[in-house]
Amino acid sequence: MIRIEKISKAFGPKRVLIDLELQVAEGETFVIMGASGIGKSVTLKHVVGLLRPDSGRVIVDGESVSDAYGAKLRKIRSGIGYLFQGSALLNWMTVGENVALPLKEDRRQKRKRAEIDRIVLEKLSLVNMASERDKLPSEISGGMRKRAALARVLAINPQVILYDEPTAGLDPRMAATIGNLISSVQKRFGTTAIVVTHDLPLAYAVGDRIGMMHLGRLLEVGTPDEIRRSNNPIVRDFIDGRPILSVDEETKLGMRLP
Ligand SMILES: Nc1ncnc2c1ncn2[C@@H]1O[C@H](COP(=O)(O)OP(=O)(O)OP(=O)(O)O)[C@@H](O)[C@H]1O
Ligand SMILES: [Mg+2]
Repeated sequence: MIRIEKISKAFGPKRVLIDLELQVAEGETFVIMGASGIGKSVTLKHVVGLLRPDSGRVIVDGESVSDAYGAKLRKIRSGIGYLFQGSALLNWMTVGENVALPLKEDRRQKRKRAEIDRIVLEKLSLVNMASERDKLPSEISGGMRKRAALARVLAINPQVILYDEPTAGLDPRMAATIGNLISSVQKRFGTTAIVVTHDLPLAYAVGDRIGMMHLGRLLEVGTPDEIRRSNNPIVRDFIDGRPILSVDEETKLGMRLP
């Protein structure tokens, strides 16, 4: 369903992605983990066509996102749900209005007001947020905002969902709740997903496979069990949470420019 074919991307002197390759099968949930600033969000932005690679390409459901523009790109994007790092709800709109946004913008289908209201309630109910429909994002907690953002992603029934740090800033039980939602969405709708996270319990719970990103590509890919037992020193340092001891080490890890 998703094929990342040897993409490279640099911002000025900083090479972020270097011949990155990744294939995600239909219905699969692939977790990308890796250090802060290593290029995880940049990878997701290539999948949805918000960034274009310097070389290589990304194919989603048989279409090249990297070569699509205008209406074609919008059509591909309409099948992809993107849960932004930090939710990105519009603060001046209620939860319900936020969820309705992609439905109102959907050019493939013109929907009546009543139908939009029905879908909004249905998706909010899926994430246990129906009773918060008329609240503003500032009036609900971080965990609720994540769930509202997830309801907005689900509104258009995407075939592919990209989750960028879906549990960042949440307590362990709310994080587990989000993990359950990700799994239940996958089971119910058969969606293909990429989940970017450094939340290890989440990665192990939702990932069919996990890939550790390092120096522009995936250093190691395996099932949760394989990753948990990995002998690779960089993977071990990461999952054991070994501190970064110096600026030199941060540079060596590719997290900052030399
Ligand atoms: N539009 C941009 N212009 C210039 N540099 C960028 C741009 N987007 C990302 N970068 C740089 O690319 C690198 C990777 O960024 P990215 O957002 O993918 O990190 P990340 O792995 O998602 O980190 P985090 O876990 O902190 O979210 C960073 O050094 C960042 O500064
Ligand atoms: Mg990021």
